[in-house]
Amino acid sequence: MASSIAWGRRTTSEQVCAYFSSSIRGRNIIVTGPTITGVGYATANAIAEQGPAVLVLAGRSLSKLEEAQRNILGNTRDAKIRLLQVDLSDMTSVRKAAAEVNGWNMPIDVLINNAAVMDTPYTLTSEGHELQFATNYLGHWLFTNTLLPRILQGRNKRIVNVSSSGHVSSDIRYDDPNFKKAYGQSKTACCLMATSLARKHGSEGLGAFSLDPGGISTPLQQHWSLEEKQEIGRKYGAYKDDGTVDTSSDIWKTPSQGGAGTCRAAFDPDIITQNGAYLVDAQVANDKRKEYAGNEDNAEKLWKFTNELLGEEF
Ligand SMILES: NC(=O)c1ccc[n+]([C@@H]2O[C@H](COP(=O)([O-])OP(=O)(O)OC[C@H]3O[C@@H](n4cnc5c(N)ncnc54)[C@H](OP(=O)(O)O)[C@@H]3O)[C@@H](O)[C@H]2O)c1
Repeated sequence: MASSIAWGRRTTSEQVCAYFSSSIRGRNIIVTGPTITGVGYATANAIAEQGPAVLVLAGRSLSKLEEAQRNILGNTRDAKIRLLQVDLSDMTSVRKAAAEVNGWNMPIDVLINNAAVMDTPYTLTSEGHELQFATNYLGHWLFTNTLLPRILQGRNKRIVNVSSSGHVSSDIRYDDPNFKKAYGQSKTACCLMATSLARKHGSEGLGAFSLDPGGISTPLQQHWSLEEKQEIGRKYGAYKDDGTVDTSSDIWKTPSQGGAGTCRAAFDPDIITQNGAYLVDAQVANDKRKEYAGNEDNAEKLWKFTNELLGEEF
């Protein structure tokens, strides 16, 4: 373990993973959404440097997974990587992928639910779920619960849900979950899922956390219009008036800085005392989570709602 670390918005995934190296070495770790341009890749790459037993890269595009694998192996030659194809918006694909992992007969020490889409054109999946709610929440919920017995066999027993400050825009709309602007709802659901997992399985040693990674310029923002970028630019200085990213703006983190909170939630042994917490800038910040996103009754309501929606009994 490095002697000290300064937690904050500029802390990098590499720093956090080096600091908690002993919680990574020899572990089996899954990261969803590791495409090389995003936060998931930066997180996975930093984890790979510290010698996990198996690092599973889980995503919908095999060619993107292979690209991430090549890049990680370019940095860490002896990294042990497995690829898992899963479309998180499609519950049939999620069930198949989770069965595949269960068939590997290995404990899962840490599951990092990072994949997401944002502000996609209004789409209902073939199963009738709004695309963001399905990808960001339902798919991860089903994947996580199907793998839970394996996670409880692991040494770390950690589940990390990458949420967003965008959760402040919406509680769960139980009477209309497939509404159009569902990104905020989906990210509230990610927080509530961590709350539920911590409450239901904390006594078995499971740690579950959610977090906001901060602002990172990635393909996540690809569906924003020029007008939206201009407005965000005027408010926060993130974009120039022509809609291009203002790289000089202090608002942006690098993908590695964005992954730092994920890495802390996944590997800090001491953070378990704050099980179910929400992190911002790699530090516990429950005060920045809306009350509805940490409320245990709401978490239980969503849990039951999700079981009914997906025909499960978790
Ligand atoms: N970037 C930010 O400013 C920001 C702010 C707050 C929160 N976050 C959160 O941080 C996390 C990472 O975001 P990011 O900026 O790195 O996003 P990103 O670059 O768009 O990466 C998202 C990842 O999710 C994958 N994905 C999307 N739909 C999927 C599906 N149906 N099945 C499986 N994988 C799927 C993408 O795969 P493809 O490459 O195939 O599309 C990609 O690997 C997300 O949870 C996001 O909500 C980001």
